[in-house]
Amino acid sequence: MEIKIEKTTSPKAKPTDESKLGFGHIFTDHMFVMNYDEGKGWNNPRIIPYGDFPISPAAMCLHYGQEIFEGLKAYRIADGSIQLFRPQENFKRLNNSAKRMVIPEVDEDFMLYALKKLVKMEADWVPHSAGTSLYIRPFIFATDPYVGVKPADHYLLMIILSPSGAYYSTGLNPVKIYVENQYVRAVRGGTGFAKTAANYAISLAGQAEAHEQDYEQVLWLDGVERKYVEEVGSMNIFFVIDGEVITPELTGSVLPGITRKSALEVCKSKGYKVSERRISIQEIADAYDNGKLDEVFGTGTAAVISPVGHLKWGDKVMTINNNEIGPVSQMLYDTMTGIQWGTIPDDFGWIEKID
Ligand code: COI
Repeated sequence: MEIKIEKTTSPKAKPTDESKLGFGHIFTDHMFVMNYDEGKGWNNPRIIPYGDFPISPAAMCLHYGQEIFEGLKAYRIADGSIQLFRPQENFKRLNNSAKRMVIPEVDEDFMLYALKKLVKMEADWVPHSAGTSLYIRPFIFATDPYVGVKPADHYLLMIILSPSGAYYSTGLNPVKIYVENQYVRAVRGGTGFAKTAANYAISLAGQAEAHEQDYEQVLWLDGVERKYVEEVGSMNIFFVIDGEVITPELTGSVLPGITRKSALEVCKSKGYKVSERRISIQEIADAYDNGKLDEVFGTGTAAVISPVGHLKWGDKVMTINNNEIGPVSQMLYDTMTGIQWGTIPDDFGWIEKID
């Protein structure tokens, strides 16, 4: 399919102070759009000026939440060129989310081609400073004007771009996490593994409660027994107990994070003992009491590698590694960001250049 291009006639001023980018507030001049119509398939791919667009008040996504999305980043490296990190994984996961939400799948090769074209057009928006990147948000939503519950016949796929800094205002400083006992995020057989808006909406009440207690994020427990650790919502979670690197296994209610998968591969390549298994919050508390909880950290595209300094479970507050980043988290941060920003060799073959 040929991608039609309409250039903006009023380009916006680019941010001058990259230390003030924040995360997800600023958007570039253009966006990618493609339609899906039943009987016709995906059609009319185009890059057009970024801007608001009309949508029916009856659009099905607004009523029944048929929506999926992805998140990845473009990095500017020292020689000025731009690269992506494992973008094929994002389009593969987009299709897995699509299947769960009964949304038509996309051609993954075409999506990568379209994304590269868009990023190339917006190359001047990719920030230069250390720790910054161009956050990429592909998403698909149902547009049929119909107030009834069924899979839609019409969808829009869009990609928007946002020059961004760190997701957490704390940067690489440890975050404070609150273990949620009352609400649950997902259950097996539900949508926890899909990147769909509802999984994030459902997390907001717990997050609001955590914020009231001065905690930044919520650690979700399994939805049935409320014993086993799942994920944080904005990131997957890892524990280092007595030298073993442990992350909850993917049982259907946890997002299969691309940074999670990469962190596991990096740890294995460095000879760490790595386990993907069920881990209960009680096991973590016991390890803490026995002085064996060495580190806790989160992984995510937005969050990168995010050390956890405090974990609150009921009345118990665990201070991890003296509220400092630990050696495994630091090694992962250095390796992942080194590969992403091209300062260390990409031995895993994860980088996709924008040429
Ligand atoms: C990402 O890490 O890309 C996400 O989509 C998580 C979101 C909370 C920003």
